[in-house]
Amino acid sequence: MTIFDLTIDELRRRTSIKWTRWEPDVIPMFVAEMDTRMPEAVTEALTRAIADGDTGYPEQPIYEEAYADFASWRWGWDADPSTFRTSGDVMQGMRHALEAATDPGDGVVFNPPIYPPFRSIIDATGRRPVEVPLVDDRLDLERLARAFADGARAYLLCSPHNPNGTVFTRAELEQVAELARAHDVTVIVDEVHAPFNGPEFTPYLALENVGKAILSTSEAKAFNLAGLKAGLLAASPDSLPALRSMPDLVGEATSHLGVIAHTAGLDGARDWIVEAQAEIEANKRLFARLVDERLPALRYEPSRGTYLAWLDCTPLGLAHPGRHFHEEARVRFNFGDDFGSQYSQWVRVNLATAPAIIEEAVEKLGFSLPSVDS
Ligand SMILES: Cc1ncc(COP(=O)(O)O)c(C=O)c1O
Repeated sequence: MTIFDLTIDELRRRTSIKWTRWEPDVIPMFVAEMDTRMPEAVTEALTRAIADGDTGYPEQPIYEEAYADFASWRWGWDADPSTFRTSGDVMQGMRHALEAATDPGDGVVFNPPIYPPFRSIIDATGRRPVEVPLVDDRLDLERLARAFADGARAYLLCSPHNPNGTVFTRAELEQVAELARAHDVTVIVDEVHAPFNGPEFTPYLALENVGKAILSTSEAKAFNLAGLKAGLLAASPDSLPALRSMPDLVGEATSHLGVIAHTAGLDGARDWIVEAQAEIEANKRLFARLVDERLPALRYEPSRGTYLAWLDCTPLGLAHPGRHFHEEARVRFNFGDDFGSQYSQWVRVNLATAPAIIEEAVEKLGFSLPSVDS
């Protein structure tokens, strides 16, 4: 089985954002969509549902049960499906968790560089953003402690971290839990990239004694199902009242076909996700080698947790690397400044694609730069 083998011509038939937002000569390596077909188990489940006209509202807790079973297999976490409920998608779930756990004006901590909607939901709900930037890709626990002591009420944790792919260690997460408990902070954790990781990943709710904590996740990244929305929320014992207080509209946003698709992935595509993880790791090694050859001023150290690469382009001396690569190389990445105003020299690169596409893209990047010999 090869997962990332679609050609650019096959991919250009798609109508999603990745393949229609930019000009047709641009290689899109921005939004977190994967260039893969669905796992067979998902295609079969959806085909059966459509053939049967099974396109109504969801009812049975199959997604919750499948997630608990998957979490036990992948990370050794024995989750209780009765502490879960469904949502529309990850960010809608995060937003409702934030509203359930805090009041307008409350401080909410997050770690730039960060997936931009983290900041947006804090602003949209009238909470107060409190930045605790990562330092060398890791949590700054001292600054986190100060932010909690200064009265923050919630912490939005992205684990593994988007954009740089950091997989936080169990020890780091235990320290977060200890601090959060001491200051009565609710940790709202997004683990949507977790399925790409094996036992080196620690689910936050699997820790002992986490105090107040709410998980928001889905299989949208793992099996490339963003177009079939279905999210999951889960809570620690101390946050179950908050989870249950969320309005019915949270679950009413869950799509029945989404539940069928995400559940089929969790139950029937375990070999597939392990293969995807291996191919992503190989793509990262390939990208590191090509960057070394074609853009030797840059250094890319593969990270583990996601299929994204976070690349510091400062040594190139460009006014805005992301814009330069789009305009001159015809390769589109996410711009670093969307992840925090101080990151305009960075780009986020989506490596969930065929190796041949990565090769073509890096070659174009190299040609777009002035030759060192001239
Ligand atoms: C960390 C993170 N959270 C959430 C999402 C989006 O999830 P959803 O579309 O379910 O809100 C993404 C998508 O890339 C992501 O990377």
